[in-house]
Amino acid sequence: MDKLRIVGGTTLSGRVSISGAKNASLPIMAASILSDNPLTLKNLPHVADILSMANLLATLGVKLTMEGCGEGENAQGKVITFDASSLNSVVAPYDLVRKMRASILVLGPLLARTGYAKVSLPGGCAIGARPVDLHLKAMEKLGAEIEIDKGYVSAKAPNGLVGADINFPIVTVGGTENALMAAVLAEGRTRLINAACEPEIEDLANCLNTMGAKIEGVGTSELIIDGVESLSSATHRIIPDRIETGTYLIAGAITRGSIILENTCLEHLSFFVDKLREIGVIIKEKEDKVYVSANKKELRCVDITTAPYPGFPTDLQAQTMSLLCTVTGKSSIRENIFENRFMHVPELIRMGAKISLDNHTASIEGGKLHGAEVMATDLRASVSLVLAALSADKEETLINRIYHLDRGYERIESKIRTLGAKIDRLKGS
Ligand code: UD1
Repeated sequence: MDKLRIVGGTTLSGRVSISGAKNASLPIMAASILSDNPLTLKNLPHVADILSMANLLATLGVKLTMEGCGEGENAQGKVITFDASSLNSVVAPYDLVRKMRASILVLGPLLARTGYAKVSLPGGCAIGARPVDLHLKAMEKLGAEIEIDKGYVSAKAPNGLVGADINFPIVTVGGTENALMAAVLAEGRTRLINAACEPEIEDLANCLNTMGAKIEGVGTSELIIDGVESLSSATHRIIPDRIETGTYLIAGAITRGSIILENTCLEHLSFFVDKLREIGVIIKEKEDKVYVSANKKELRCVDITTAPYPGFPTDLQAQTMSLLCTVTGKSSIRENIFENRFMHVPELIRMGAKISLDNHTASIEGGKLHGAEVMATDLRASVSLVLAALSADKEETLINRIYHLDRGYERIESKIRTLGAKIDRLKGS
């Protein structure tokens, strides 16, 4: 397995281009199943999860045509057309689903389009049990019959789905996306109450509306969907990845550097940006570029609690913890979304961090981080170790099991190297 070797202590500087959002791309790719007309998506990121979803869609009979593919420093993402006019399977097999939880997002579209779906249960994962009960309840509310057998969810609605009021007891991003996609072709009106309102869901709803869906309340926690009979062809550009954006903001801050982020927008990250400013990081936006620096100012400790959008994103919790490990004083982070999302803590402790855990709260006593050999455990935990390693003055860190990083960060080592970091990939057997 590949490893990353990083020698820390370089003050990062230069420009980095932000890729399209992985978490917006995945549901929108799945939405192509809803239509027998082609859907062209622009700005898809070059990451392994996109390939996994593409493989799954191909297995279902969706034809994928690569229309263009920017490479290198000026990459503008992939352009792919998805043509689901001749679906030939409704089965999402275990072998594909186990690689990526988000595969469950084909459930709603398959059911809505064909009346049937058989999708492997995603199983556990490193950041907690992550059930899909709310996805299934939403499908039942829309009239589907659900059975679970031998690790597969079988759903059927041979006479089509029927609109309903769905009140989510907790905010779920994937559950909202599945229900939204299913409701678009259901007969009559659906109301999604206490819906997640992450920018990725807004992007999905905007794309569906471009395809001819009738969704109101886009960007809010109550979505009203009037079902339509069919969808037309459309072209949609994926929004910039706000989590990659936040990660590079921290890369600038943790190395006390000064970098420029291109092809992004801070609008989707207001709460997070406010917190970084509270820490003392300087962030400015000028003519579609974002400038981050932390070279002169003393940084301050803070208390953070993760929450659904527009709150502090759980997907930036691990990276922010790395930064706070380098900020003098006592900070705390409470993780409110996932029950087991502190897998990076023991690894950061190996790098000299002083962190104590009490249930859902991590208390951090800021100081210096050192190089060490560590293990990546999930996508965001992995990148938090990269950030921590960048700050370890002239010391070497080896990060094992970095395949997690490739799932969600496009060309990470080449992007960071361009900013001046000493980072290499050691090819494993
Ligand atoms: C999505 C994101 C992930 C992010 C998370 C929270 C994608 C591909 N992934 O994951 O990066 O960390 O949102 O912002 O977009 N839950 C249930 N039952 C369900 C569904 C969820 O109990 O049926 C619970 C989960 O265990 C978790 C919470 O709800 O505790 C939120 O999960 P959810 O918003 O559904 O996360 P994902 O869609 O899996």
